[in-house]
This record gives sequence, C-alpha cells and structure tokens, in this order.
Amino acid sequence: MSRNSAVAAPRRSRPERRRRIPARKPAVDELANVPRKLPIRRLVVACSGGIGAALLPAWGAWLRATYGLELRFALTRAAAELVSPRALSAIAGAPTIVDGRDRGAIPAHLRLARFGEALVIAPATANLVAKLACGIADDLVSTLALCFAGPTVVVPGLPPGAIGKPSVQRNLARLRRDGFHVAPLAVGPSAASGEGGLGAMLDLPAFVRFLASACGDASDRVGEPR
Ligand SMILES: Cc1cc2nc3c(=O)[nH]c(=O)nc-3n(C[C@H](O)[C@H](O)[C@H](O)COP(=O)(O)O)c2cc1C
Repeated sequence: MSRNSAVAAPRRSRPERRRRIPARKPAVDELANVPRKLPIRRLVVACSGGIGAALLPAWGAWLRATYGLELRFALTRAAAELVSPRALSAIAGAPTIVDGRDRGAIPAHLRLARFGEALVIAPATANLVAKLACGIADDLVSTLALCFAGPTVVVPGLPPGAIGKPSVQRNLARLRRDGFHVAPLAVGPSAASGEGGLGAMLDLPAFVRFLASACGDASDRVGEPR
C-alpha cells in the first residue's frame, strides 16, 4: 500500500474548550445600594414613547418583587408600540391603560390619580417633557400628570443630541421649578441608534434611589413652585 493510499485516521476533534462564564451575581448584589424599603405602597408608572419603555417590564417586575409595590401602568400610544401592554398588565396584575383605549365610566386619568401615592413617568420623551413644561394635557399621560397631586418623578429618556437643545434644557429646568422630581440623565449609547452621549434613562438602582428620595418628602407636592 502506497503511503498516499493510506486512509487517514479520522482526526479526533479536540474537546471543545469551555468558555468560562463568570457566575452571575445575585440581583441583591447588583442592587446593594438601593433602599430596603420605599415609603409608598401604590405606584403609577406612566410611559411615553422612548426606547427605554422596553425596560419597563423588568423594572416593574423587580419593584413588585422587591418592595411588594402595587403597580398600575399607563401608556401613550407611542409607548404601546415599544413595550407590550399585556406584559405590563401581567406584571401589575391589573390592566395597563393605553391612551384612547379605555372605556371605563370614570376616566382613566382620574382613576389612576386616585390610586397612586406617587407617579413615575418613565421614560419621559422630549415630546412629553415639553408638554409637561407647558401644562398641555392632550392625552392620558399628560392629563394624568396634570391631575396628580403626589410626588411626580420624571425620568427623561431623550434621543441623541436632544439634551444640547436650548428648548429641552429650558423645559427640564421648568419642570424642576414647577416641583417635578426630574431624574438625572445617563451617559451611554442610545439603545435605538447606538450613538453615545447624555440622554439615556438612568439605570434601575439609580432610579430606585431617586424614587425613594422623591417619595421621602411627603410635603413635596407638584404644583408648589420652588
Ligand atoms: C424606536 C423608537 C425609539 C424612540 N426613542 C425615543 C427616545 O428615547 N426619546 C424620545 O424623546 N423620543 C423617542 N422616539 C420618538 C417618540 O416616540 C416620538 O417623539 C413620539 O411622538 C413620542 O410620543 P409620546 O411622547 O406621546 O409618547 C422614539 C421613536 C421610535 C420609533
């Protein structure tokens, strides 16, 4: 048998090298710096059409599991394109209200305003920030924000470049002066475009700390200028 005709023994494939996956840290570690308790039991989360809306099911599930909060979600029409109202309903154990789709005898903005001890608007789009700054109430979320009497936390989630615009700066400053608790923006790539910069929604631990401090001061009411 010539050397060439020898049938090469099948090469034994090398055992696949296992990639070391670092052990996942428990959530409690990641969120070690969040308060143990919140001074509220019932929270309304209103959401406008920023890409950060996609994070809300995770935020909601975590808030409920960690603090036992009773949640209700309200969405603008644009938000309902970016996050599933059904997922949020499952997390809240109550129907999520989408602007224009509620047929209850008592208008949804009034029901929600009565329910919540605090209102969070996350993400608050550039559009919604502008509406809140002017007192415009032309949909569910903006009307709810106008009716709501308790602490209102605005978590802006802006498109890349928006924060540099004088109109956006003016609107955010106006909201602060009007008594809204405006959360700081985060630096990072836009989830929608990958572009970097200041404008993204802050992360969950920072949000929880901000919420706790906003709710801690019960005397602080929207509508009482600073
Ligand atoms: C995929 C996608 C992501 C968006 N992300 C943002 C965002 O992060 N911030 C923002 O201000 N607008 C964002 N927009 C634009 C808003 O959805 C748009 O301005 C809309 O009119 C806002 O309506 P609303 O404020 O009533 O929810 C996004 C739009 C799309 C399609």
